[in-house]
Amino acid sequence: MSTLELRQQLAVAATSLRSCLEQHQAAGIRVLPAATRPPVEYAAPASGEGEAGASVDLRQLRDILGDCRRCGLWQGRSHIVFGVGDPDADVMFVGEGPGADEDRQGEPFVGRAGQLLNDIITKGMRLRREDVYIANVVKCRPPGNRDPEPDEVASCEPFLIRQIELVRPRVLVALGRFAAQTLLRSNAPVSRLRGQWRDYQGIPLMPTFHPAYLLRNPADKRLVWEDIKSVLRELGTAVPG
Ligand code: URA
Repeated sequence: MSTLELRQQLAVAATSLRSCLEQHQAAGIRVLPAATRPPVEYAAPASGEGEAGASVDLRQLRDILGDCRRCGLWQGRSHIVFGVGDPDADVMFVGEGPGADEDRQGEPFVGRAGQLLNDIITKGMRLRREDVYIANVVKCRPPGNRDPEPDEVASCEPFLIRQIELVRPRVLVALGRFAAQTLLRSNAPVSRLRGQWRDYQGIPLMPTFHPAYLLRNPADKRLVWEDIKSVLRELGTAVPG
C-alpha cells in the first residue's frame, strides 16, 4: 500500500473513531476498556517512512541503500545510480531508471538523453547541472531498458520518496510517462499529464516528456520548452526570450 493510500485510510479511520467517541461521550461514557486483541500488523509502507525514512541526509540515505538486493535488478547492474546534484536544489528532475550509460558510470542522465536534459537545464533554464538534483524512480538498470516491474518500484520508491523529502525542492519535474505515472499514481498518458501543474505531497510537480522521447520526436521539444517556462515562472525566474 502506498503512503498516500495509507494516509487516506488513516484519515477515514480517524474520522470514524472521532464520531464513535463523540457518540460515547454523548451517552455519558468517559472510560474505555483496554484493548484485548493484539495489534494488527501492517505491511511496510512503500514510502520514505520505513528504513529510508530513518535517514537525516542524502549521504545517510545512500548508506542505507547499501549494496542493494531488495529486488532482482541487482543481478544485472554494474552500478547503483542513486542520484546527483545539489542537496538543496530548487528543482528536482525524476526519470525512470538508469540506461546502459548510467549503469556504467553510476550517474543519472549521462547518455544521449542526458545530453538533452543538460541542454534543457543549461540553455533553457540557464542553470548548471550541479544546481539541480536528478534522480530516477529505480536506481538499477532494468534489463534491456524495459519498464520497471511493480515489485521493483515498490522496493526502490521509498528511497526516491525520501530523496524528495530531503531535497524538498520548490519544483519537481517528472520526466516521461513512467516517472509521472508513478509519482502521481495515475494511468493517464504523459501527453495528457504534461503541461499541467500537479501536487506531489505539497510540492508543485510538472510532468513533461522524457528527453529520450524528444530524441525520437524533436518536434515536441517546443512543448517541453512550454513546460520548462512554466517551471521558471513558478520559481520566479525570468523566462529567456
Ligand atoms: N533515462 C532515465 O529515465 N534515467 C536515466 O538516468 C537515463 C535515462
